[in-house]
Amino acid sequence: MRVLVTGGAGYIGSHTVNALLEDGNDVVVLDNLYTGHRQAVNKKAKFYHGDVLDTSLVTNILMDEKIDAVIHFAAYLLVGESVQEPLKYYHNNVSGMISLLKAMKTAGVKNLVFSSSAATYGIPKDLPIKETAPTNPINPYGETKLMMEKIMRWTDKADGIKSIALRYFNVAGASLDASIGEDHAPETHLVPNILLAAKNGTGNFTIFGNDYNTPDGTNVRDYVHVVDLAQAHVLALHYVVKNQKSDVFNLGSANGFSNLEILQSAIKVTGEDIPYTMGPRRGGDPDSLVADSTKARTILNWHPQHDNIDDIISSAWKWVQTHPNGFSE
Ligand code: UFG
Repeated sequence: MRVLVTGGAGYIGSHTVNALLEDGNDVVVLDNLYTGHRQAVNKKAKFYHGDVLDTSLVTNILMDEKIDAVIHFAAYLLVGESVQEPLKYYHNNVSGMISLLKAMKTAGVKNLVFSSSAATYGIPKDLPIKETAPTNPINPYGETKLMMEKIMRWTDKADGIKSIALRYFNVAGASLDASIGEDHAPETHLVPNILLAAKNGTGNFTIFGNDYNTPDGTNVRDYVHVVDLAQAHVLALHYVVKNQKSDVFNLGSANGFSNLEILQSAIKVTGEDIPYTMGPRRGGDPDSLVADSTKARTILNWHPQHDNIDDIISSAWKWVQTHPNGFSE
C-alpha cells in the first residue's frame, strides 16, 4: 500500500513509519516539524514539510502520491498546555482533522487510522477501561481527540471514509536499535523525565502527588512499548482496508504501574540512585488509567512483544544514553 503518515516525524509517528516500511508499504510523511524531528524520519520514506491545515497541499499529496490510506498523528499533545491554551488545541487538532478529511474526500481516499487517546475517557468509573466505557474528557486535549473521533464517525456515514481510532494509554520506550526515541521540548512525560534525572544526576525530577486513591498514593498508568504500539497501527491499517469497517480500539497492557513503581524499575534498570522530590498534584490527573485491550488483541490480532515494564524502560534508557541531546547533535 501507499500510506500517508501525518506527523510522521513525531515520537509515535516515526516508529510507525518504520513498522509500515518493514511491512512492505511505501510511506509518505507530512510534518510541519513543530514538535517532530526531520532526523527521526526513515530515509526510505518520502518527506513533505507542511501543515495538515493546508487542505490543498494535503489533497495534492494524496493525489500526486496515489495514496491508498492515511495514518493521522499530526496534533498537539500536551494535556497541561491544552488547559492553558484551549483555542490553540481546538484550532490545530479539530481543524486539522476537518482539513484532512476534506482532502481525503476530494482525493477519494477512503481509509484512515487515527492516533486517539485514553484521555477521551476522563475519570473512569471501572477499571480496566473498555471501549464501551463513557467518554467524559477532563481537559481540552482529550476533548479534541473525542471530537476528532466523532467527526470521523459522521464522515464515514456521509462520505464512506472508514476509520479506526486507536486510544493509547501511556507510551514509552524507543526503537530496539535505539536509532529513534522520545525527544520532546519541553519534556513532560514520566519515563523520559526519570531517565533524564538518572543521566544528569540533577535531582530535578518531581513526582506529582502521593495522596491519590491508589495503593501507594501515586498515580497508576498502563505502559505500552512504542514498537508494539507502532505495530498496532499496521494491523489497524490492514483491518480497515480489508473489512471496510470503522471502529475504536484501546491499546494498553492491562497492567497498571504506579509512578513510584516506575521509578523503582528505572533505578533497577539504570543502576543509578535517582534523586526525586515528592511534589503536589499536577492537576487533571485521574487516579488510575488501565486499559482493557481484549478487543485489539482478538479483532486486530495485536500481541505486544515487549510488555515487561523493565524492558520498556531499558529500551528508553538505551536511547537516552546513546542520544544525550536527543536528535540535536
Ligand atoms: N509525572 C510525574 N512527574 C513528571 C511527569 C509525570 O510525577 O515529571 C506523573 C504524572 O502526574 C502522571 C504520570 O506521571 O501521574 C504519567 O504522566 P505522563 O505525563 O507521562 O502521562 P499522562 O498519563 O499524563 O498522559 C499520557 C499521554 C496522554 C494520554 C494519557 C493517557 O501523554 O496523551 O497518557 O493515559 F492521554
